[in-house]
Amino acid sequence: MGTSAAGFDVQGVNSGRIAQRLEELARFGRSEASGGGWFRGFGTEAELRAREWLRDLWHKALGLEVRVDPAANLWGTLPGRETLPALVLGSHHDTVPNGGQFDGALGLVLATEVVQRLVEVGCRLRHPVQVVSFTAEEPNPFQVSTLGSRAAAGVLRGVDVRGAVHIRTGVSLRDALQAAGGDLDRLNRARLDPASVSAYLECHIEQGKRLWSRGIPLGVVTGITGIYREEVVVEGEANHAGTTLMADRRDALCAAAELVLGFEEAVVRGGGEEIVGTIGQLEVKPNAPNIVPGCVSLILEVRSPDREGTAKVLTAFDECVRRVEAGRRVQVRRVRLLDQEASRMDPAVIGALERAAAGLGEPYMLLSSMAGHDATHMARITRAGMLFVPSVGGKSHCPEEESRMEDIAKAGDALLRALLILDEELDAR
Ligand code: GLV
Ligand code: MN
Ligand code: MN
Repeated sequence: MGTSAAGFDVQGVNSGRIAQRLEELARFGRSEASGGGWFRGFGTEAELRAREWLRDLWHKALGLEVRVDPAANLWGTLPGRETLPALVLGSHHDTVPNGGQFDGALGLVLATEVVQRLVEVGCRLRHPVQVVSFTAEEPNPFQVSTLGSRAAAGVLRGVDVRGAVHIRTGVSLRDALQAAGGDLDRLNRARLDPASVSAYLECHIEQGKRLWSRGIPLGVVTGITGIYREEVVVEGEANHAGTTLMADRRDALCAAAELVLGFEEAVVRGGGEEIVGTIGQLEVKPNAPNIVPGCVSLILEVRSPDREGTAKVLTAFDECVRRVEAGRRVQVRRVRLLDQEASRMDPAVIGALERAAAGLGEPYMLLSSMAGHDATHMARITRAGMLFVPSVGGKSHCPEEESRMEDIAKAGDALLRALLILDEELDAR
């Protein structure tokens, strides 16, 4: 396997240990009730317990110095031999509701394993190596996704989220961050000095089918899709479901149904295999069988590799909104929640991952990511790259999400090799 510049034979990763740690992390948030899926949403008890587990693991098993920044990102540091900016390996430990075992978790367990291999053979790289678990990567009821990596990249400031509250419980983001060890008043201090990081490397499941359907074990990511999200609130009129004649109704749910289908059409007409759109969240008020729905709020998202794709979809949707407002006598309010540009991964990191895969004799594929990741924000301040592992059947964000251990072990070896390559090549004297 890899030999570091200092001459240590680092060998491959320990797949038994990886499997065991994936199981250990999977104890947090597993729910029998909802079809066996996982839920470690930001601020939940399971999410907080997973943090504790990681913190302990990094401190006790790896001997790392661990710290929590004001965005509650968890950092572990292995010092380097030279005074250089860090090579950072990371991902996230939160999940979507009723999600899978591997999204985020795999990247953290492999990052942990890679560092543990260095520690157990007594290998110090030239660069410090850091592991990080970013806070609240997934969309959450505080309406702030990728909170931790955005704060680290300096693109989310405290003032942007000062008033954020959990939309159902009313708990403030301030309190939720504090419970996780963060501090909203000091959020700006979670910002990393770009000079302190040499590269960011994230391993993740692909979540789609491109690797799986071709039988290729490794994917080297070239770029990450842009994501646009908005909340659309449809105001109609609540009234008695028995006594309100059909002609007199201003039914917000019927209007929302037209918007959902109109949006789908706008996306399909917007064209392009890599332009997708989803309305995956809907709230109906008052949500009772004998009341005409008075208000519906929904969240729509568009993903596109460029701004033009998103703009085309939104222009077509604007037209649909005007039509529905006039035809159904409802008002539609729209609030932008996220407008995240697509990003490119760094050529030096892509090259290191390609050479790592080739050095292992493993086939790999260059591909773009249609899922969002913390790496998209890290790419603004450092060289960023991602390595993908096939998802069985292309399933993700569901309990059936799975990756095969043989592919996971190959990714662990490739990640380790790529790290050694970057350590030698970056910031050369
Ligand atoms: C991240 O999980 C995403 O929504 O792509
Ligand atoms: Mn996810
Ligand atoms: Mn993820």
